[in-house]
Amino acid sequence: MQKTLTVRSLSEMDRFAKQIAAHLFPGAIIGLKGELGSGKTTLTKYLARHLGIQETVNSPTFTILKDYRGLLPLYHMDVYRLEGIGYDYELDDFIYGQGVSVIEWFPYISEMLPEHILEIEILGQNDQVRTIHVKGEGPYETIVQTLSD
Ligand SMILES: Nc1ncnc2c1ncn2[C@@H]1O[C@H](COP(=O)(O)OP(=O)(O)O)[C@@H](O)[C@H]1O
Ligand SMILES: [Mg+2]
Repeated sequence: MQKTLTVRSLSEMDRFAKQIAAHLFPGAIIGLKGELGSGKTTLTKYLARHLGIQETVNSPTFTILKDYRGLLPLYHMDVYRLEGIGYDYELDDFIYGQGVSVIEWFPYISEMLPEHILEIEILGQNDQVRTIHVKGEGPYETIVQTLSD
């Protein structure tokens, strides 16, 4: 199942995050794709808030992974630095663990991801309107189904 949504502001991005967070489950994996400045980290911050995380969520570009405690644990990864490497087995326990994984630049580690993940592509940067493509099969299909503009 695939859906395309339009997000015109930060508050609409927050609303989008809320709709997704409401349906997350232990072990859920969200892959984020989009240019620098498209809003991958911003979306993750909103997801974190809706998962009850009070800590400030910052970009894990240099550490690759940061984990947070909320209603579900959140594992926030930015695998930009793994371009051309393709995997990092230290991430395995998290990706296949009982928290929610949010992976910025997920195509760079596609070979270590399971068949089904929730894919979110963000088009647009800076103050532009975002077009968001969301794709999910299997356990992610209902999440996509319930999304609305
Ligand atoms: N509708 C929007 N959705 C997401 N970010 C937005 C939006 N409008 C403006 N922005 C801004 O765009 C920037 C996105 O940066 P960031 O989330 O770090 O992107 P990325 O992680 O994809 O590199 C932030 O400064 C954010 O405040
Ligand atoms: Mg980022």
